[in-house]
Amino acid sequence: MTNFKLGILASNHGSNLQAIIDACDSGIIQAEVSIVISNNSKSMALKRSNKKNIPSFHISNHTHPDPHLQDIAINKTLKDHNVNLVILAGYMKKLGPLVLKHYKRKIINIHPSLLPKYGGKGMYGMLVHREVIKSKEKITGISIHIVEEEYDSGPIIDQIKIPIDKNENAESLSKKISQIEHDFYVKTIGEIITGQIDLNSYYN
Ligand code: GAR
Repeated sequence: MTNFKLGILASNHGSNLQAIIDACDSGIIQAEVSIVISNNSKSMALKRSNKKNIPSFHISNHTHPDPHLQDIAINKTLKDHNVNLVILAGYMKKLGPLVLKHYKRKIINIHPSLLPKYGGKGMYGMLVHREVIKSKEKITGISIHIVEEEYDSGPIIDQIKIPIDKNENAESLSKKISQIEHDFYVKTIGEIITGQIDLNSYYN
């Protein structure tokens, strides 16, 4: 058992969440997923975490219509579970000011493009891949960045380039990226835990 505790927020499928849970279980990363939060009560992400008996919470506009109270609830839930690093894994909502302040430089996100390209409001999941294909890009990729107030902003801590095949469409690209994302996110999280990546160093 390790002392490093991860809090993961996910909205839908939760395949990155699963990869992180598996990496903790197998010891690839020395940490435990101490809590999962989803804004979607029916998400696969919550099914996955419940199956592993990880404390799991649905916090959303339905449970907390007031954004301030929602911010307080997410912050309290993370704190109550002694979370050291907050990981957004396909979480499609903005975090509130309280969580951003309390976990300053301790929140990371994965995004399926070479940020700053194809990032920002309304750019997530399949929508990103559709735009990349529409723009006839030859290369795309994955970015992992520190979370700040705006969508997909904050220093990029890791990036990987992925070539786009001639006959690629948004669906095939999404599958290809999703497979690479899992190992890439796990590797980067591991490097944060071991101190190879220092999130504070991006602000010096
Ligand atoms: C992932 O591809 C992730 O990069 C993307 O959503 C997908 C979630 O998949 N995130 C964003 O677009 C964030 N702006 P998952 O639920 O299977 O982990």
